[in-house]
Amino acid sequence: MRIRRFRKGDAVAASQIISRCFLTMDVGGNSPEGVQLQLEHNTPQELIARAETGAFFVAADGGEVIGIGGYGEGMVRTVFVEPDHHRHGIGTRIMKRVLSEARKNREYHLECWSTHVAEPFYAKLGFKRDDIVEFPTVSFVRMTLDLAENA
Ligand SMILES: CC(C)(COP(=O)(O)OP(=O)(O)OC[C@H]1O[C@@H](n2cnc3c(N)ncnc32)[C@H](O)[C@@H]1OP(=O)(O)O)[C@@H](O)C(=O)NCCC(=O)NCCS
Repeated sequence: MRIRRFRKGDAVAASQIISRCFLTMDVGGNSPEGVQLQLEHNTPQELIARAETGAFFVAADGGEVIGIGGYGEGMVRTVFVEPDHHRHGIGTRIMKRVLSEARKNREYHLECWSTHVAEPFYAKLGFKRDDIVEFPTVSFVRMTLDLAENA
C-alpha cells in the first residue's frame, strides 16, 4: 500500500468509499437527511473540484484506491478509508502525508470538522477539540492542530 497524490481518475472510487462509509456505518451527528447531503457533497465532480483547493492524497493498494484525505483552505477535508480496512493505520498514513505537505507549504494551523466517530483518530494526531458545529441535519466536532507544536 502506498500514499500518492489524488488524480482525477481516482474520483469515482473515492466517492464510492465515502458513500460506503456513510451508508454502512454510523459516523455520528447525521440525520438521514444529513447523510443524503453528505453523499451529494462528495460526488466525483465535487472531489475533483475540492482537490484543486489544496493537496489531496489517496491510499492505493495495487491499483485499488482504499482511502482518501487532504487539506485545502486551511481545513483538513475528506478523510475516508474503505470500511473493510479500518483500524489498520491507513487513515494515519494518509494524515501524516497531509500534515507533512501542509508543513512544507508553510501552513501553521489546520482546522478539521470531524465526524463524531473520528474524534479519537484526530486526537491521536494531536488535534484539540474546540466545540460542536451544529446544522439542522448534521453536526461536527470542530478540532484544530498547531503544526509548529506538533512537528
Ligand atoms: C476516521 C478514519 C478515517 C480512520 O481511519 P483508519 O485507517 O481506520 O484509522 P487508523 O487505523 O489509522 O487509526 C489510528 C488510531 O485512531 C483511533 N481510532 C481510529 N478509528 C477509531 C474509532 N472508530 N474509535 C476509536 N478510536 C479510533 C485509534 O486510536 C487508532 O489507533 P489503534 O487502532 O491503534 O487503536 C476511518 O475510521 C473512517 O473512514 N471513518 C468514517 C469516515 C469518517 O468519519 N471520516 C472522518 C471525516 S472528518
